Amino acid sequence: MSSIESILDEVKRQKRTVLTYEESRNVMELAGIPLNIMKVAKDLEESIQQANKVGYPIVLKVISEDVIHKSDSGGVKVGIISDDELSKAYQEMMDGVLSFYPHAKIEGVSVEEMVSGVEILIGTNTDSQFGKMIALGIGGIFVEVYKDVSFRLIPVSSKDVQDMIDEIKGKAMFDGFRGLPKVNLDELTSLILTISNLIETYPIIFEMDLNPVVATEGGLRAIDARIILEPNKTD
Ligand SMILES: Nc1ncnc2c1ncn2[C@@H]1O[C@H](COP(=O)(O)OP(=O)(O)OP(=O)(O)O)[C@@H](O)[C@H]1O
Ligand SMILES: [Mg+2]
Repeated sequence: MSSIESILDEVKRQKRTVLTYEESRNVMELAGIPLNIMKVAKDLEESIQQANKVGYPIVLKVISEDVIHKSDSGGVKVGIISDDELSKAYQEMMDGVLSFYPHAKIEGVSVEEMVSGVEILIGTNTDSQFGKMIALGIGGIFVEVYKDVSFRLIPVSSKDVQDMIDEIKGKAMFDGFRGLPKVNLDELTSLILTISNLIETYPIIFEMDLNPVVATEGGLRAIDARIILEPNKTD
């Protein structure tokens, strides 16, 4: 795989600011961020081949730069357990996405390992006044409901991360909520430090979203990735 620099340079060369799902995941992986297993496919036939490599149950997601929120448009299908179910889900997904975004250019789909656990949001952005910020909160569907997120300026120290965790009102979710695996706070701290480092090293990253990172039995896994570069530094 190429380096973080070469991925970012190629995006800039193409005068883009939004990285594809694959590019975003590659940057994160190269930075040492743990991700779930993911394979891309161009059509249904290839999806079935990839699903058999990943192993059922799988999650199917649409890949299209025109789709802003995948799940809102039927672009995320979880818990697919067989080739037959995959064929059905694939067709439903194409129909759903195109009825929501009639002009969307669909590049393909991702076939992903299914994971379960508490969903955590981690994101970074660039404030016009304060500069680089990092956010931590309860992820998934609860983000918009509770807006339970804490922020710090980048770079953060381990102490900052502990304070961020303490500020989350729903932090009881990290403690083995409804039989879900406990969140390993040392691992979470080191992940946030890794992200803080990445942004410090590559300030051209304007915005980065890992929503969600799932705290699985086997540790943290980012299952959605999005990176956007500074608008004025692409040419
Ligand atoms: N690999 C997976 N295993 C289990 N559940 C998943 C997986 N991928 C997605 N999900 C579920 O689907 C939800 C939406 O997935 P994802 O974040 O990829 O799509 P999204 O709609 O693009 O989100 P956003 O609005 O942040 O762009 C997740 O919060 C999670 O609950
Ligand atoms: Mg998401």
